Amino acid sequence: MSSALQTRIAALRVELKEHNYRYYTLDAPLIADAEYDEKLRELQALEAQLGEPVPADSPSQLVGAPPSETFAAREHGIALLSLANAFSADELRDFDRRLRQHLDDTPFSYIAEPKIDGLAINLRYEQGVLTVAATRGDGRTGEDVTDNVRTIADIPWRLSADGITDDIPALLEVRGEVYMGKAAFAALNRAQQAAGEKEFANPRNAAAGSLRQLDAKVTASRPLGFFAYGVGAGGEGLAETQFDLLQRMHAMGFPVQDVAVLHDVEALLAHYHHMLEIRAGLDYEIDGVVYKVNELDLHDALGAVARSPRWAVAHKFPAEEVQTTLLDVDFQVGRTGAITPVARLQPVAVGGVTVSNATLHNMDEIRRKDVHIGDVVVLRRAGDVIPEVVRVLIEARPADVRRIELPDACPVCASAIEQVEGEAVARCSGGLFCTAQLKEAIKHFASRRAMNIDGLGSKMVEQLVDSGLIQHVDGLYRLSADQLAALPRMGEKSAANLIAAIESSKQTTLARFIYALGIRDVGEATAASLARHFGSFEALLAASDEDLQSVADVGPVVAAHVQAFFAQAHNREVIDRLRAAGIAWPDEQALAGQLPLAGHTYVLTGSLSAMSRSEAKQRLQALGAKVTSSVSAKTTALIAGEKSGSKRVKAEELAVPVLAEDAFLELLNG
Ligand code: IVH
Repeated sequence: MSSALQTRIAALRVELKEHNYRYYTLDAPLIADAEYDEKLRELQALEAQLGEPVPADSPSQLVGAPPSETFAAREHGIALLSLANAFSADELRDFDRRLRQHLDDTPFSYIAEPKIDGLAINLRYEQGVLTVAATRGDGRTGEDVTDNVRTIADIPWRLSADGITDDIPALLEVRGEVYMGKAAFAALNRAQQAAGEKEFANPRNAAAGSLRQLDAKVTASRPLGFFAYGVGAGGEGLAETQFDLLQRMHAMGFPVQDVAVLHDVEALLAHYHHMLEIRAGLDYEIDGVVYKVNELDLHDALGAVARSPRWAVAHKFPAEEVQTTLLDVDFQVGRTGAITPVARLQPVAVGGVTVSNATLHNMDEIRRKDVHIGDVVVLRRAGDVIPEVVRVLIEARPADVRRIELPDACPVCASAIEQVEGEAVARCSGGLFCTAQLKEAIKHFASRRAMNIDGLGSKMVEQLVDSGLIQHVDGLYRLSADQLAALPRMGEKSAANLIAAIESSKQTTLARFIYALGIRDVGEATAASLARHFGSFEALLAASDEDLQSVADVGPVVAAHVQAFFAQAHNREVIDRLRAAGIAWPDEQALAGQLPLAGHTYVLTGSLSAMSRSEAKQRLQALGAKVTSSVSAKTTALIAGEKSGSKRVKAEELAVPVLAEDAFLELLNG
């Protein structure tokens, strides 16, 4: 078994978990959907290659991300699944072939529905009245956004008698997509920009961000739409086909989309091309076509695999591409010193914005794609994510193109540029001596998800560093209002506001503080896991490699980065000065002490049917419990799923209570 393969799988799992968290929980993705899909497919392929059982918490097995803790959790009556993707005609033909095999030549038809770029919502109607609206969450449990959903005019508060049978089911879950139309999306981003707020990457994130508001008034101010596309609990027997089901939902008061009933895969492909053509004329963004088996009784027969039903597939549209000329390449220095080649382009319109820069990732990519200055390049942009140079039009290459060379020295601080064996990225060796790295470190430290220092934007950080007012992040806490007011374009009022924002950032959380330090590969999710696991900064500092690797999501690479960071005297000094300046957080352990399972220790064994062991562990920890790997006299109870072995024997010996899955679920649900 190849360890390189395992390392890559582990790295992809960590990376995809972080992206899931950013996408689903924070509504702030860092990469384009297409890039995410590519990584997910790589993971799936490598897992298949490895040929070992795939752990249930691998991102390849998950639908979305666990619900955030800001909204109450709501369990769906029937889980919401996701869709498998097809990216080419061949993949679609494979889907059709598999389906026919499974159905053993039973005749069936397809229904084709546009794939709306929004977010899934589950609406629960009791006696015809909307009682709960929840996001998809992890598929089983979502976030309660009922108050916000009630502000969406497309969603009825009360079901209409549908005129078909006229009876309203006692309980009915209606599923569909909440979306933001194109015009509303553009207007919202203009307003966000004018207000200096973050723009949304795509309509899906705008819809999700608008729905996941604590104040329903904010949701009400954002024009959201809804299309119904399915039913959950209580939906059995409502209709025989998906087509009829859509009609019935329409009669009950829900908007539904225009669909087509088709009979073979060639008709699906023709329909796909038709949709690509009419896509631009629709009022809302679609990112593909969903094909479903139309006959609903066949759905049960077909069932589901891992994250998606066998009876449906999403045929995704390719990301939009345009051509332009590469005028030059600059090298930018990131927070960790990574040197990124940036393409300077002949400005070109793509996806509704003018693009003049694009990332070239690293030198390996440049060589692989054979990019030269002067080339005509193909550019791809998905959402608001940084556009990417996809390939060169070799046939259009002018005679005088220039080769792109990695500089020997950092363009900012002139320190040597190092290329580590086996790493694609070249790095400036200057560390925080390099003002580019220092500026990025400060921007990260001050950012909203880190120390959240309002008013300390990019421009301000540049000024503070360039004027020599601060040399390290801790310098922020020694700034005076007078010093700030003396900076160009800075009034007394703004200086005072910034000082106040810096002051109030001192009250933070351990997770934010760890994240703010900018340790390589420690993103928000990992920082939160570290904070939860160690409880105090001292415990984190003292953690051994083994301690670190016992934290969910932390493997050898991240553990090494954490240790290397704290091993540097310079970093320890900055941290000491930050804490001396008064940065503090509530004691995680005291906080945890107030949780319902605080002081209890559980051990998990065997397999559970409702969730993976690692999810069970997370759920217990979220309630304040400790989860250990072996049974002792101190264990509160052993939670035993199917096929529990020696641990159960040990528990019985020590008279430690054993909880079966039902009892465990009851415990979780309080
Ligand atoms: S059916 C089990 N139909 O795409 C199948 N989903 O990538 C459940 N989506 O979670 C989904 N348009 O949020 C279905 N016409 C459509 C859709 C659609 C958009 C979304 C939905 C789903 C995601 C899967």
